Amino acid sequence: MQFPTLPFLISVSILFYSSFSFSAEQTSDQGDLTLGEKIYNEICFSCHGKTGDGRGPSYLNTRPFPQVFANPDYMSRFMDQYLFDVVKYGKLAVLKKTTPSELSKTSIPVAMPSFGDVLTDEQIKGLIQFEKNMAQGVANPWPSKEIREIFMDACATCHGLEGKGNGDRVVKQPPPKYFISEIQPPPADYSNSKLMERFSDEYREALIKVGKIDTVDRLGFNTMNPYGEVLSDQEIWSVIKYIRKTFIEERKDKK
Ligand code: HEC
Ligand code: HEC
Repeated sequence: MQFPTLPFLISVSILFYSSFSFSAEQTSDQGDLTLGEKIYNEICFSCHGKTGDGRGPSYLNTRPFPQVFANPDYMSRFMDQYLFDVVKYGKLAVLKKTTPSELSKTSIPVAMPSFGDVLTDEQIKGLIQFEKNMAQGVANPWPSKEIREIFMDACATCHGLEGKGNGDRVVKQPPPKYFISEIQPPPADYSNSKLMERFSDEYREALIKVGKIDTVDRLGFNTMNPYGEVLSDQEIWSVIKYIRKTFIEERKDKK
């Protein structure tokens, strides 16, 4: 009988370790569910909705509208550490990588880049039309061959060949089953109308022209605010646990 060599054993254990630590992060179980539920129903529901549909009593006050949580397919692409950082430091700080957390030390947070210098207004309108056609389930969503080529060249690496939010830069585990996105936040699935209803044409145009950071920083569109001043780390982990358990885990295989 032959025994594996030491270098072989070491490389196997490294592989194991890294994939294990990745999923351990994703299913992180810190936090208290009862406390999380209380905080959610006191603070978060007003925008994200009691049922996580992104339509709480004040959802009309933010542009884009609040994130929709009740979507396991999309929400399971987020890492716990990203969700935590967004709530503690606010999404802008995460995208600018100015948070002190472990997440910002890696290259994971990716903000939608700007294309205003390379695309004409007509081309941007065409890309927006493509996205809207996807959300409406139009059979051939491409407004023209040119738009299809631009999308394949400039957008598909993150957004996926069909705009499903599963480009090369994004996928960690192969879709269609639930996967964790390598870049955070994961781009949305254009064919999911519930996710895409959050965005107005004005917002999409700004996003494509100046990118996500300037859309918020310079043009004044909204994003998730920081709650680190009002919530402790334990409270934030608790509300993340509540979101994951209630809107993601419990729905996963009931679709
Ligand atoms: C004033 C409205 C408002 C409140 C209250 C609010 N959020 Fe948000 N939240 C938003 C908006 C708007 C977005 C979408 C941000 C974007 O698209 O950039 C968002 C996005 C998020 C995201 C997803 C980040 C992403 O990249 O899409 C998480 C997670 C989140 N909120 C958690 C919470 C939690 C937890 C609470 C309660 C402690 C909370 N939010 C309270 C408005 C709100
Ligand atoms: C480097 C990766 C990357 C590239 C390249 C990229 N995007 Fe994005 N895009 C993102 C990310 C990440 C988001 C999510 C933004 C958020 O939630 O903060 C996004 C969001 C969007 C959205 C809003 C819907 C959503 O998924 O949240 C639109 C519309 C969009 N991008 C269009 C485009 C178009 C059109 C192109 C090509 C011209 C493009 N993007 C290229 C990363 C990218």
